Amino acid sequence: MKITIKDINVQNKTVIVRCDFNVSIKDNKIIDDTRIKESLKTIKYLEEQNSKIILISHLGKVKTAADKKTYSLEIVKNQLNKYLDNKVELETSLDFNQIKKRIKSLPQGKILLLENTRFYDLDNQKESNCDENLSQNYASLADVFINDAFATIHRRHASNYGISKYLPSAIGFLIEKELQNLDILNNPKRPYAIIMGGSKISDKLNLINSLIEKVDYLLIGGAMSNTFLKASKIEIGNSLYEESMLDYCQKLMTKYQNKIILPIDFKGLTNNKVKTKNIKTIDKDFTIFDIGPKTIKKYEQVLKNVNTIFWNGPLGKYEEQIYQKGTKQILKYITKYPKTTILGGGDIVSACNILGYQNKVSFSSTGGGATLSYLENPNQPGLTNIENKEI
Ligand code: 3PG
Repeated sequence: MKITIKDINVQNKTVIVRCDFNVSIKDNKIIDDTRIKESLKTIKYLEEQNSKIILISHLGKVKTAADKKTYSLEIVKNQLNKYLDNKVELETSLDFNQIKKRIKSLPQGKILLLENTRFYDLDNQKESNCDENLSQNYASLADVFINDAFATIHRRHASNYGISKYLPSAIGFLIEKELQNLDILNNPKRPYAIIMGGSKISDKLNLINSLIEKVDYLLIGGAMSNTFLKASKIEIGNSLYEESMLDYCQKLMTKYQNKIILPIDFKGLTNNKVKTKNIKTIDKDFTIFDIGPKTIKKYEQVLKNVNTIFWNGPLGKYEEQIYQKGTKQILKYITKYPKTTILGGGDIVSACNILGYQNKVSFSSTGGGATLSYLENPNQPGLTNIENKEI
């Protein structure tokens, strides 16, 4: 385990905390503020320690000047203030001299949130390329750095990796809880299965190669399974898949034919009509949006004797009620039994919340890509410069 906020002296110090406030926003409203709520424990602890608190985070991917309006942290500040008695102020300047003046004059009891770390990407990708100067500028603002942005640990950016080279650093309570729960998966009670779905396929497909070695079964759904089916020369109609990964999926299926479990029927759309089709009857006009009833049964059979499950990505387009069934039935099935069920990734966690199973799973991770990357290799950039604790 890494040294935590409790192992480092933060009392009366200026402490800069990297959070992950990268929340989904729709119609100017935060859809799910779990990441904000999960950050509060660290913030409240620092208040008790009489620390001067500076919060930093990214939001979205900032590519043009217009994105500065879309991705301002103003909305995050307002949400934080609902939980923190209006103590949070936002500093909009990106100029470090100005920021330092603001920190100096910050009234006792107030917390300062700095603007989106990725606004610096408009200047030669300084944040995302981990610019040394930017890293040092961030470090110059405080005495101690706390990384509590679990969902970003797989990024080597100035505001998480860069800054930690120049300040005494530790992880916050959110990362500590994540690592404790994910570490269960290093030594899982067997049989152990991973369920993978979702629509973001290319990054995840690459990780399968190493994750599959650690599991007994890999059950695949969502757009990810389409690439495997296509690689097996099965007609998938207009469904989403990843052309560049066909060979790779073919090789995986040959090597791990006993571990990889694929759908055998589907719910989807043909000419604007919702239909259920089995694997042999898919036509060119069909688009797959969910697994079908026979697949649900097949997956339940596999999961019946499994003791540990890690699930990343929904099995269908859960945002539309008509395509929720696959994800819902499998959630219902696995949470009936005393299995260890860990969810990782914004979409599956949000599906679980929407479908009412949030209190029935063992743990929901705030990370998506970060969770998968951590399971593949615990030495992630956001943690590298934080010392290990002697146990
Ligand atoms: C996430 O939502 O996965 C994290 O906040 C990281 O965001 P990113 O993929 O834009 O780096």
